[in-house]
Amino acid sequence: MKPKIIAGNWKMQGSLQEITNLMREVCSNFDVLNSPSVQVIVFPSFVYLHTVHQLLQNSPVLLGAQNVNEHVAGAYTGEVAASMLKDMRCQFVILGHSERRHVYKESNELVAEKVQRALEVQLTPILCVGELLEDREKGRTEAVIQAQLQAVIDAVGYQAFQQCIIAYEPVWAIGTGLTATPEQAESVQAFIRKLLKQGGTELANKMSILYGGSVKPDNAASFLSVPGIDGVLIGGASLKAQSFVDICKVGIQS
Ligand code: PGA
Repeated sequence: MKPKIIAGNWKMQGSLQEITNLMREVCSNFDVLNSPSVQVIVFPSFVYLHTVHQLLQNSPVLLGAQNVNEHVAGAYTGEVAASMLKDMRCQFVILGHSERRHVYKESNELVAEKVQRALEVQLTPILCVGELLEDREKGRTEAVIQAQLQAVIDAVGYQAFQQCIIAYEPVWAIGTGLTATPEQAESVQAFIRKLLKQGGTELANKMSILYGGSVKPDNAASFLSVPGIDGVLIGGASLKAQSFVDICKVGIQS
């Protein structure tokens, strides 16, 4: 069985001191993090990548970034290139997070360009997809997710998905305390796999699909036990060492 992916997206939270304390405390649970049943990844803000990389020496926890620019390099003040993330020892990058799509108005096509940049330098994208509450209420969940994925398929082709992880994150469940039901998560992962089957059954079956949106230690098991859900993307609960480690423990038992 493939390990469950337990990914902590710290967003724009914490100070140098807080992040150092968080990592030290998380890393003190070496046996949990080192279990072959889980793959743990943390996503600090760009400015803390170097520090967190150093704190992760001798730890099985991997490093990722929260965003990347769509250009290879150039005069783009304030932006960060995929090659720079590789330099900082990132192996993953979150792309198309709902906060990027909705607060920063990133289009499906822009997200697809970012996926392309990440893949060019062998960074694994964690491609987030998900619907607004209004979309769900109007029965548009699958159409929204299909459009988000199709833009990426058009840009990089189906085979590139071999190097991607998808995170299903209903926008209405992020940071709200609301969660999708396990049935909703199962149905969306099945829909995503059905779409990707056009690129081959093996690709669709092997694809890692995570659930994200208000995952906490007490509800993690209900998602991690859903058939076809291969892990969780955690925001708020990844900022407290105890709750993050507790979710990793749930991942080991699932
Ligand atoms: P949350 O965030 O766990 O705080 O809802 C999830 C995410 O934004 O990936």
